[in-house]
Amino acid sequence: MNQMKEKIQALKREKNAAILAHYYVPEEVQEVADYIGDSYYLASLAAKIKETTLVFCGVSFMGESAKALNPEKTVLMPDTGADCPMAHMAAQDKIKMVREMYEDVAVVCYVNSTAELKACSDVCVTSSNALKIVKALPNKRIYFIPDENLGRYIASFLPEKEFIFNDGFCHVHASLGGEEVKKAKNAWPKAKILAHPECRPEVLKEADYIGSTAGIIDYAAKSSENKFIICTEKGVMAELKKKNPDKIFHMPGRSMCCADMKKNTLEKLVCVLETGENEIHLPEKLRAAAEKPLKSMLELAK
Ligand code: 13P
Ligand code: SF4
Repeated sequence: MNQMKEKIQALKREKNAAILAHYYVPEEVQEVADYIGDSYYLASLAAKIKETTLVFCGVSFMGESAKALNPEKTVLMPDTGADCPMAHMAAQDKIKMVREMYEDVAVVCYVNSTAELKACSDVCVTSSNALKIVKALPNKRIYFIPDENLGRYIASFLPEKEFIFNDGFCHVHASLGGEEVKKAKNAWPKAKILAHPECRPEVLKEADYIGSTAGIIDYAAKSSENKFIICTEKGVMAELKKKNPDKIFHMPGRSMCCADMKKNTLEKLVCVLETGENEIHLPEKLRAAAEKPLKSMLELAK
């Protein structure tokens, strides 16, 4: 393992590459990353990195966003088969239909979406900035794609807006039920419940804090409490434990695992650094169209 990590460091220098990783990738991959964070941090950061090659350890929509925002850079992914099923759970035809029905609608697209869906949208959001951005939009009517749970959670703070929801969901977060959270709460009554907004409403109802992966990590680090029940994918446990060695973290039920994120292995990382394979390419017309709502997000989230 150490040999492989040394090899990665040497290859990075040789290829002028930086490694970006999401909190859900395996711990050993997080350990070799130059930058690790939530979707918003990683999307906003890619534009500031001086290296000419970005190796994105995450799922396709993250690599695509990095490429859309940095067309001059080479973006590689350890496994191009690492895809987020929710990213495909909205339809371009439906967006067109909603736009025809409501002239004043803003199509708000969670970044967990394909470049094609982003290209048909007005603005992108992540779980860490969705509320701020949707609130700032002048439009009363919002079509929120693809995640229904995040959309409904945001809508609960904005009674002045009219939301149209889409029935997309994250199968990993949706696998957690309210009963499992209640059981965890009974087992560890003093623990604070921290949940990702992709969870079902019945889970969010039990939560003391709701936020992105980075938000959850930050909340636990700043809290004076020392026990937490973590309702998101198990990859965040690495950073939570690293930042808070004296605090205790539990996961309710069977811990949630995103099989796509786990496709990012050290072996594949070495391979793409060596060969330059798995480069992300977007046709220029699509790239430019997907870049627009991403740039609007970066502007509005400031
Ligand atoms: P974050 O933006 O909170 O990192 O979430 C990304 C994701 O895929 C959640 O399932
Ligand atoms: Fe997609 Fe869910 Fe995996 Fe996040 S955890 S990448 S939303 S499948």
